[in-house]
Amino acid sequence: MGWNPWNAFRTEVTEAKIMGVAETLKSSGLTGAGYRYVNVDDGWWLKRRADGRIEVRTSMFPSAAVGGGETSLRPFVERLHAMGLKAGLYTDIGRNACSQIWDPKSPNLPEGTQAEREVGSFDFQAQDMRLIFGEWKFDFVKVDACGLADYAPGKSAVTGGQYRALGPYIVRERPDLSNAVYVESLYASLNKAIAEVRPAGDAILSICTWGEANAADWARRHGQMWRTSADIHASWESMLHNFDSAARRPLYAGPGRWNDPDMLQIGNGAFDGRHLVGARAHMALWAIISAPLLLGADLTKLPQSLVEIAGNREVIAINQDPAGHQGVTVSRQGDTQAVVKSLAERGAKAVALINRGDKPARMSLSLARLNLALAADVTVRDVWRGDSRKLEGAVITRELGPRETVLLVVKGRPQPANAVYLNEMPANIHVAEDGQGVLAARLDPSWVPAQASAAPSGAPLRVNGKRYDNGIGILSNSRLEVKLDKAYRRFRATAGVQDGAEGAPEVRYSVYGDGKLLVKKTGKGAVRLDVSVDGVRTLELVAEGGVTPPAPVMVAWGDARLEP
Ligand code: GLA
Repeated sequence: MGWNPWNAFRTEVTEAKIMGVAETLKSSGLTGAGYRYVNVDDGWWLKRRADGRIEVRTSMFPSAAVGGGETSLRPFVERLHAMGLKAGLYTDIGRNACSQIWDPKSPNLPEGTQAEREVGSFDFQAQDMRLIFGEWKFDFVKVDACGLADYAPGKSAVTGGQYRALGPYIVRERPDLSNAVYVESLYASLNKAIAEVRPAGDAILSICTWGEANAADWARRHGQMWRTSADIHASWESMLHNFDSAARRPLYAGPGRWNDPDMLQIGNGAFDGRHLVGARAHMALWAIISAPLLLGADLTKLPQSLVEIAGNREVIAINQDPAGHQGVTVSRQGDTQAVVKSLAERGAKAVALINRGDKPARMSLSLARLNLALAADVTVRDVWRGDSRKLEGAVITRELGPRETVLLVVKGRPQPANAVYLNEMPANIHVAEDGQGVLAARLDPSWVPAQASAAPSGAPLRVNGKRYDNGIGILSNSRLEVKLDKAYRRFRATAGVQDGAEGAPEVRYSVYGDGKLLVKKTGKGAVRLDVSVDGVRTLELVAEGGVTPPAPVMVAWGDARLEP
């Protein structure tokens, strides 16, 4: 949680503005509510010296002029640290940055010779990370990727001699033309360089390839957060688009590895002080999918109404719930969508009822979809309204205004009483192999190889005509790791090929406990699995087989659940 200046200031990122926002973060109470990272985005650099060291633009960061011809951001970082804040900086994984291509008229672009303007980390990973984390003491780095995407041979900025050609290793919206393996290797080595300077492991690497080059599949191995889409704009459509890109991937997130739909636009455009309904919706959506909460407006101008929305402690508690489960979409009809996030407290669920459209809508969600029992003691707290009520009946019903999101915390008795479904514990699941393999390029981009409570295509889970509201949908030739930590005694599921999947192949389902095979069954239709997992730390669910191997097929681990 914190703030990033890009949405408000682009490359006009002066020390005075940032310190002004930092003061406001503290005085408004937002820091107390959890917003602690103050990040610098593109625009802070002047050039790379012949010895490789980056010089800071001291006209924007006066405190960086430390004398003797040196520049250092250490004094700036120390001021933030003294305020109890954390500090973040920005660089690029290629040789050049995004502003150099996308903000060509900015007065704050790196200066000097072609080599001096190569401020990205490409040939300087170890040196730059020593500077940023070792010498300057930053806590966070956002590493962008325009250097791998926008400096292809033949681009005018390159043929004109302004910049050196590189790649392209990322071609936007064309994973088939991007070199994901190489892009991953660059972020992997950058992460190693950070670990050498910050062995405590408390630094944050924010990977910014905008969801390109299959980052969603590998970024969790190297960074703590990764962008899942292009830049957010202050429009309703852009906000929903970015939300969707992250919301589809609950199985890929968890503590220390978060899907990042980009900075919040609260305070800007469709989410400004005249659009409180939209601002609440934006905040609720980021909260329910456990997204990083990086504010992006000029906070010195933020009206109190929006400070209260961004600083709402109950909403933040949902976002920061220690279990770290990302919310899972349990229904999507027309413009309405319901997302459920299991909270650490057993039987407690955060629920977002979302009206994406511009007309009023009525939404209903049954307790069954929350896996809660119909009982007299179900309480429903409406977080924005700040009231709690006992639920009458088995269904939560709400009338929603245009673009309204109702955010609830529902507490009741789990149903079944002694089981937890895998889709209720996405943070405990690691998608070790998602079945995509060499087929990455061919997978429909709206599909997600592993989904909670849905098939990879997004359809409801269905095997042999039976629908499963609970379970995991995944491609075959896949392996899921589930963290049990010896807390459960039985695993049960009905596995099978998703109805409507191409062909009718045989699939082999194997369940391993700490590397030991517990059960293996093969079938075309539904296969019942019921096995003791007593004392198991890590459960593995493997599905092998396919149409004409190695082409995968959609399979379902229907009703997959653990019993203590
Ligand atoms: C890219 C990133 C943005 C921002 C700009 C800076 O577009 O996605 O978040 O950092 O670069 O130039």
